[in-house]
Amino acid sequence: MPKVELHVHLEGSILPETLLLLAKKNNVTLPAKSIEEIRKWYRFSSFDHFVEVYFAICSCLRAPEDFELIVFEFLKNQARQNIKYSEVIFTPFTHVKRVSFDEQLAAINKAREKAEKEYGVTMGLVPDLARNMRPVEESLKVVDWAIKNMGNGIIGFGLGGPETGNPPELFAETFARAKNANLPALPHAGETEGADSVWGAIKTLSAKRIGHGVRCLEDPGLVKFLRENQIPLDVSVTSNVCLGVADSIENHPLPELLSEGLFVTINSDDPPMFNTTLTEEYLKIAKTFDFGKETIKQLALNGVKASLLPGEEKLKLTSLFEKEFAELGKELLGRN
Ligand code: HPA
Ligand code: ZN
Repeated sequence: MPKVELHVHLEGSILPETLLLLAKKNNVTLPAKSIEEIRKWYRFSSFDHFVEVYFAICSCLRAPEDFELIVFEFLKNQARQNIKYSEVIFTPFTHVKRVSFDEQLAAINKAREKAEKEYGVTMGLVPDLARNMRPVEESLKVVDWAIKNMGNGIIGFGLGGPETGNPPELFAETFARAKNANLPALPHAGETEGADSVWGAIKTLSAKRIGHGVRCLEDPGLVKFLRENQIPLDVSVTSNVCLGVADSIENHPLPELLSEGLFVTINSDDPPMFNTTLTEEYLKIAKTFDFGKETIKQLALNGVKASLLPGEEKLKLTSLFEKEFAELGKELLGRN
């Protein structure tokens, strides 16, 4: 089925075999030396443990061509899954000691353009901040750079990393600059922290969408606000299970979010780190929650609607989705 993906991290999408290759090329010693060891390394005991592994992965990116390689592979994989368009988060400040912001962007754009031509799928870039970065003032440099490159592939500005102890309010001035420049705010919130963090993302950062946001359910007033304003939540079910946000897929609050009338999209977050893909996310939710074709199609269309694409692009994608879903319907009928 056709899909878009609105919440997926570039560094968290590096395939295990590519990570091993990059570590070797750049003389980085990882605690895992084979695909099997990487699989084991990707079992997370806590969110902080996940972040530690994430930074170790980032340390394997040391040259512009490393970015080219992972972007090209990323889009190839999205195309294989019939993901027509992706909004891709990356964390430029994490790499800046090794590759400058401009070099990162040039390399990403070079591979993006090549892969877009070759595979016929597209992507937009969402640089984000690790919310535990200090001094916080350094984040002003990141946002100013992102604003300068709005015509150059950058479509939004994010906030990720450990939510506990690092509330959105720390980055008020940074996101005020983004807002002034009409650069949409796409912060993570309501993942390992509760409603206060989501309120902060909305009121202080002017979030256009919330990354995760699943813990909004702890505050009925927040649920009402999110429903009335139809603020989209980028939901990633397997990520939530792997990081202890939900204790199992069966107990994930996705059905409750939907029955509350919230605007939900389905995402893979860091697919190889959680041993998943976007295709598998849709299969898992359909099976676990017994969602029918109409619900699945609606969730896929929500992705188009919640994206940052211009209106006419959304219209084009929506009719393409309608056409492909209708063909799928015929194919399924033909099999009966
Ligand atoms: N939350 C916060 N930061 C992240 C995540 C996440 O799920 N994935 C990659 N960075
Ligand atoms: Zn994320």
